[in-house]
Amino acid sequence: MRQPMVLGNWKMNGRLSEIKLLLDTLKQHRHIMAERSAVLPPSIYLPLVAHELENTGISWGAQNIHACSEGAFTGEISAPMLLDYHCRYVLVGHSERRQLFHEDDKFIAEKFHQVKEHGMIPVLCVGETWAEREQGLTQQVIKKQIQSIEKGCTRPYLNCIIAYEPIWAIGTGKTASPDIAQEVHAFIRQVVSENNADDARALTILYGGSVNAKNASDLFAMPDVDGGLVGGASLIGAQFVEIVQCISSYC
Ligand code: PGA
Repeated sequence: MRQPMVLGNWKMNGRLSEIKLLLDTLKQHRHIMAERSAVLPPSIYLPLVAHELENTGISWGAQNIHACSEGAFTGEISAPMLLDYHCRYVLVGHSERRQLFHEDDKFIAEKFHQVKEHGMIPVLCVGETWAEREQGLTQQVIKKQIQSIEKGCTRPYLNCIIAYEPIWAIGTGKTASPDIAQEVHAFIRQVVSENNADDARALTILYGGSVNAKNASDLFAMPDVDGGLVGGASLIGAQFVEIVQCISSYC
């Protein structure tokens, strides 16, 4: 079932005192936030977030994971560790991981399946650079990023989320227009339907890239945009609540 929702990706932002205040705001608005929102804090704050958001109906998850369940991988975090803190979602393939940490499609696919094997929901991020868009390569780039998770898997798109995050729109204040977002989201659904039409219909596809309280409702109104993956604006409690409120009419 498609689930309209908004995820807040805090990235490497926030100190303990700020995060406590942010969590207080989210909890005060739990009637709006419950069942349609989740936050992705820096992993060191997951125990705090799990404790504070328990029984609120607001979910949480991780920004990253390693592809192996355990071992000599200094600095990494495993799926069983995330399960200890009841994570529901895990981002994989965020463009910052692809570009700054050189994660390739193969490694991202391994992480994607690791998340699924442990019963959590992978949020596969895909998106093109501005140069790729200008060269007319958007569909080609996105198709390759998506299909890389299909190998050796019969129902790869069951119980996952795809987030379309044009790289040129992330943290730049430049949002894709609702029409551009719709066009790419419809294309993503078409790519997925080539694998399995039922899973394509049920797939939740989020838009990410400078979503804020002003542009969220126009984006969420598009038929194939099922919600948002929000970075900067998710750090401001009141604004994140407003964005989540925009998705409510579609729930
Ligand atoms: P932004 O980030 O909302 O700050 O553009 C989105 C993301 O990278 O997930």
